[in-house]
Amino acid sequence: MIIAVDGPTASGKGTIAKALAAHFGLPHLDTGLLYRAVGRQVQLAGGNPDDAHLALAACDFPDSLLDDDILRSEEVGGYASRVSVHPAVRRALYERQRAFALQEGGAVLDGRDIGTVIAPEALVKLFVTASVTERARRRWLEMTGRGITVDLEVIEADIAARDERDTNRADAPLRAAPGAALLDTTTLGRDEAIAAAIAEVAAHIA
Ligand code: DC
Repeated sequence: MIIAVDGPTASGKGTIAKALAAHFGLPHLDTGLLYRAVGRQVQLAGGNPDDAHLALAACDFPDSLLDDDILRSEEVGGYASRVSVHPAVRRALYERQRAFALQEGGAVLDGRDIGTVIAPEALVKLFVTASVTERARRRWLEMTGRGITVDLEVIEADIAARDERDTNRADAPLRAAPGAALLDTTTLGRDEAIAAAIAEVAAHIA
């Protein structure tokens, strides 16, 4: 069983995907991490993430980079969003994601284009969303909880810019796949959102 979980940043898709994987006993891939690793490689090289050649060369990142906590930072998220615009980068990362989706027994993948490009045949497709204001509040809480001082307005502007880029790029833009179930987590707590996602998957299995 393949479960595709797509949605914008800080929508709760990662938390939901992880919980679904644990509940249904499936391996989980956070595909955003791959784009973050590419973005980080470009950043480390002091390059411009809008340069397609540099971004493509950065797809050759070492696997150890995927464990680096710096990938979770807002700055690297911005780099990831910019390198993900390039079709060559998306092509370079395709096989790895596709192989993960097709492994025996199935898998849960979360990202932006899982239900539309990586695994359109997924048994269950979820599109997780929440208002920009709520997503900014969550990210702000998470960052201040980690001791990072940051303005809520700055986070909100950053998230809005990222949404704009991810939604309007020509190749594999962020959008709900045909047949995807929409899960708006704006007013849901963590456990409620997870329960709703599990119920959706269970309904498909039944
Ligand atoms: O989910 P995330 O915030 O970790 O993703 C970081 C960036 O990577 C996101 O802004 C766009 C890109 N991305 C993508 O284009 N396709 C995916 N399947 C996952 C992430």
